[in-house]
Amino acid sequence: MANCLIAYFSREGNNYVNSRIVDLPVGNTEVAAKIVQRLTGGNLFKINPVKKYSTDYNTCTKEAQKELRENARPELTAYPDSIELYDTVFLGYPNYWGTCPMPVMTFLEKLDFSGKTILPFCTHEGSGMGRSESDIRRACPRAQVEDGLAIRGASVKDAGKEIERWLKNHGI
Ligand SMILES: Cc1cc2nc3c(=O)[nH]c(=O)nc-3n(C[C@H](O)[C@H](O)[C@H](O)COP(=O)(O)O)c2cc1C
Repeated sequence: MANCLIAYFSREGNNYVNSRIVDLPVGNTEVAAKIVQRLTGGNLFKINPVKKYSTDYNTCTKEAQKELRENARPELTAYPDSIELYDTVFLGYPNYWGTCPMPVMTFLEKLDFSGKTILPFCTHEGSGMGRSESDIRRACPRAQVEDGLAIRGASVKDAGKEIERWLKNHGI
């Protein structure tokens, strides 16, 4: 399935994994996105806000909470050249405060996903997909938003089989 896009947001730096703060040189969602890429042959696109979140975990949680409260749409550094080429868009993100990070909402609202299938996947530390799927459906009313895959951040490196099963369930 080469004509799919794998768009994801992921943050490297300090994070909370299995009740401890650890330093992740590569974010959990990025690890998952690269597994999806390997299994599908699609094109990767990283969603980057102009103003990066702090690498400090506690500061980042405050920044993200403020954005959520304000329903912010942080500016992104870039967008894919064209999404017309893609019928299927995988959308990866960490669960932030029960939903997707606000830069992901910017991405969804700036582009036209009409007629496309969106397959969300998230990494998390216990809350699963949260309310992210319904938030994505609201942002992209003309897309087919499938049920997502929630991957525990701490075990993302071993998620290959789980991701493979999810893809199979969606006929990919
Ligand atoms: C700002 C922030 C908010 C978070 N909120 C939640 C949450 O509500 N529920 C949850 O299960 N995990 C939460 N987490 C944990 C992340 O979802 C988890 O560590 C994820 O794997 C990080 O992905 P990344 O390394 O790709 O950025 C939060 C982490 C951060 C930094």
